[in-house]
Amino acid sequence: MNRPVPRHVAIVMDGNGRWARKRLMPRNFGHRKGVETLRSIVKASAARRIDYLTVFAFSTENWSRPQEEVGALMSLFVETLEKEVPALMENKVRIRFIGDRSALGRKVIEKMRMSETQTEKNKGLTLTIALNYSGRDDLVRAFGRIVEDTVPAQHIDETLISSYLDTAGIPDPDLIIRTGGEHRISNFFLWQSAYSEFYTSSRYWPDFNEKEFDKALNAYGKRERRFGGLG
Ligand code: FPP
Repeated sequence: MNRPVPRHVAIVMDGNGRWARKRLMPRNFGHRKGVETLRSIVKASAARRIDYLTVFAFSTENWSRPQEEVGALMSLFVETLEKEVPALMENKVRIRFIGDRSALGRKVIEKMRMSETQTEKNKGLTLTIALNYSGRDDLVRAFGRIVEDTVPAQHIDETLISSYLDTAGIPDPDLIIRTGGEHRISNFFLWQSAYSEFYTSSRYWPDFNEKEFDKALNAYGKRERRFGGLG
């Protein structure tokens, strides 16, 4: 059977903390293990000819976590970007970031900008990392810019709003996967998920792997998408 491959897969990588706690380890041990999962899913996505993979790495609400965890996550982002860019280049992966950069530290912003510039000519998978992102905040910032640009009310339509979001130029996700067993969108892609298919895995993110990813892709392939019509 010829199953359609989603063009854009977005993932809420949840369960790192619980995975670590189960092993009586600090939460950051789970985040470190989560990077390994991310690496394998990026590779698998490129191999399956998925065009866009987006991962929810840090939400605007995550600042309320203990300072130690937030600091460790920021260091992990910097370290991972430093380490992984050569492999991303080899695999022709282009990196993009979405989210509000203004609240991030100088080092993180610098690494984000460098990895975007270094990979910008790559023509394979686009890996979008949502960092200090939330769906509502994306909309709030977009509306602010629309007002700043004094866009006349009669020009405001769905295409215009999409073009002001951080995801401008990226197609809406066909499939959103959430690991860790919760069935919530948690302020991720609110506008962009209008017609996305949802798939929840009970596995914690560090235990998610290529086989589980294929299960999600197969489930997606079997669904009938009607986009509000009769199909
Ligand atoms: C959610 O688990 C996971 C995160 C908040 C962080 C995910 C980040 C990574 C895997 C690192 C990615 C690296 C780059 C460069 C993008 P949780 O802490 O909410 O787990 P819990 O629900 O069990 O508490």
